[in-house]
Amino acid sequence: MARSNKTDIYRKRQTAFLVIIGTILVIGILIAVYFIAFNDRKDISQTTGASGTEAVPADAQGETMGTNKICFETDSIQLAVGDKVTPAILNGNISDITNWQSSDSTVAVVSENGEISGISVGIAAVTAEVSDTGTLLTLKVDVVASENSGNLTANNYEIVERDGLTYVYDILIANKTYSLPSDYNPGEDEEAVAAFETMQSDAENEGLEIYISSGFRSYDDQDRIYNNYASYDGYEAADRYSARPGHSEHQTGQAFDLNTISESFAYTAEGEWVKENCHKYGFIIRYPEGKEDITGYMYEPWHIRYIGIDKATEVYESGLTLEEFLGIDSVYSE
Ligand code: DAL
Ligand code: ZN
Repeated sequence: MARSNKTDIYRKRQTAFLVIIGTILVIGILIAVYFIAFNDRKDISQTTGASGTEAVPADAQGETMGTNKICFETDSIQLAVGDKVTPAILNGNISDITNWQSSDSTVAVVSENGEISGISVGIAAVTAEVSDTGTLLTLKVDVVASENSGNLTANNYEIVERDGLTYVYDILIANKTYSLPSDYNPGEDEEAVAAFETMQSDAENEGLEIYISSGFRSYDDQDRIYNNYASYDGYEAADRYSARPGHSEHQTGQAFDLNTISESFAYTAEGEWVKENCHKYGFIIRYPEGKEDITGYMYEPWHIRYIGIDKATEVYESGLTLEEFLGIDSVYSE
């Protein structure tokens, strides 16, 4: 009996010991899990976005929502090709956020004010910084096909029709195939003008003078110009160098004729510099030499078109015209 009591006491002690060890282990595991989770959150909020398209939970951005730190309202957004969205912000305003970047500008681009444009189907990460703290925010952007997604160019870019305008790769298209409404009257494009002024200033620093001879032209302006050329040169000849009303890039406000409107411009120091450098400012030489069959127009070394630095650089490096790059035609239907 005494032996049995001793065994019971021993068993009880052993059980108590195991319970204590078990409890300590469970508490240890819980603490470890807490610290691992906490550190992961800090790592996510410090991600540069270079790691790809992983979404960041909204409550992990700028620490937590509960602490009133600025963050995106959602960790991801979906938009269609051709759509534009400015993400909603919690605990602050869009103007509190700066340094907007897209991980893939062929999928989505983001303006300096945080407006995101869907360019082609795919996923991109948009990152931005909270101005005051430098906290990095990340937003997953899922770009899906638009409703008219059956409409693709020969190079598989979606052709987006919006308010009577045609966009391909987020570029407003005006050529012989694609026209602009007669009441489309945007004036000079501010972004294009600012880009030109930067280019002009850099050219000046190299002792070169470039200036705009002809910028925005309304539908009516182009009507007068085209018909004037046609009246003394004939319509067939005029069609080789002057756009019919509604078909001129000048009506977009994003095209400029520089300096002397003559092929001789190509052989000036300014013309050579523009040809080699304008893409760095977002412009392309829109009607290159020897491409009349493709662009629909004779060589115009003076006519530059703003499409943004990334795209202008892509087009420049491809050595293609915009029509070839996008896979579109430039032919009048009649
Ligand atoms: N000269 C160009 C093609 C225009 O008229 O817009
Ligand atoms: Zn022009």
